[in-house]
Amino acid sequence: MFQERLTETSTLARACLHGAVREDGALGAAMHYASDGGKGLRGFLVMESARLHGVDDACSVWPAAAIEALHTYSLVHDDLPCMDDDDLRRGLPTVHKKWDEATAVLVGDALQTLAFELITHEAVGDARVPLVSSLAQAAGQMGMVHGQALDIAAETASTPLTLDEIIVLQAGKTGALIRWSAEAGAILAGADPKPMRDYASALGLAFQIADDVLDVEGDASAVGKAVGKDADAGKATFVSLLGLSAAKSRAQELSDQACDALAPYGGDADTLREAARFVIQRDR
Ligand code: IPE
Ligand code: IPE
Ligand code: MG
Ligand code: MG
Ligand code: MG
Repeated sequence: MFQERLTETSTLARACLHGAVREDGALGAAMHYASDGGKGLRGFLVMESARLHGVDDACSVWPAAAIEALHTYSLVHDDLPCMDDDDLRRGLPTVHKKWDEATAVLVGDALQTLAFELITHEAVGDARVPLVSSLAQAAGQMGMVHGQALDIAAETASTPLTLDEIIVLQAGKTGALIRWSAEAGAILAGADPKPMRDYASALGLAFQIADDVLDVEGDASAVGKAVGKDADAGKATFVSLLGLSAAKSRAQELSDQACDALAPYGGDADTLREAARFVIQRDR
């Protein structure tokens, strides 16, 4: 059920995003290129949480496309030489390798602003302002960008980060956009976002631990990005602090916790429960 829905939502969200990207010039070409090939997990969370709250795909596809645009911007900038300096993303050369650094900076800029344009589509209705406001907070200085700043600072910190500090870092860099995605469905319906927030807080952390585990154990051709880089760069992760086995147990606990948070929705939330199991079992 999860895989089918992931394929469906990622196809719809990608088509919506691509339909809004300009067709001409290097900027348009690089935006199309960058936004292809991801798993589409954040867009899935938007559309499946919306479905759970009785909101149809024709409405939720806009915020789904928006979060995928914003997430893609974060990856294009994350890969830049001044950040993680990566050459491979989604199985292909990164944007700054295929084009150049200026193009990669501009692709990120353009995808970020496009995200806000997509959310304000008239099909989104009354939730447009709360969604724009909450996405701005999730993406910026209090959310993803803050987490990225902590991640970069940790590379040169004189002492290793504590577990609590790593949790704060990861709740920002990865958690903020994942939380927004899951809460979006409740916001679209004008419902209480609390259960979705609890679900996504655990899911987001489990997701990032799995990413850190894949950096150690993954196969670059399956993962689609370079592996074995976090330790060399001095990244602060659950794996660097606890080791692989404890990090994996923690991810399993968080995945179970995410499933438990969906209790108020009963069996209707089974596809989201499958997603919580998928994020820690994935190979890419
Ligand atoms: C990668 O995210 C970056 C992290 C926050 C760990 P994904 O693993 O969701 O990347 P794509 O979108 O599928 O390429
Ligand atoms: C990236 O985290 C998080 C964001 C882009 C916000 P990572 O640096 O661990 O992601 P990968 O491993 O490059 O995908
Ligand atoms: Mg990074
Ligand atoms: Mg990176
Ligand atoms: Mg990583």
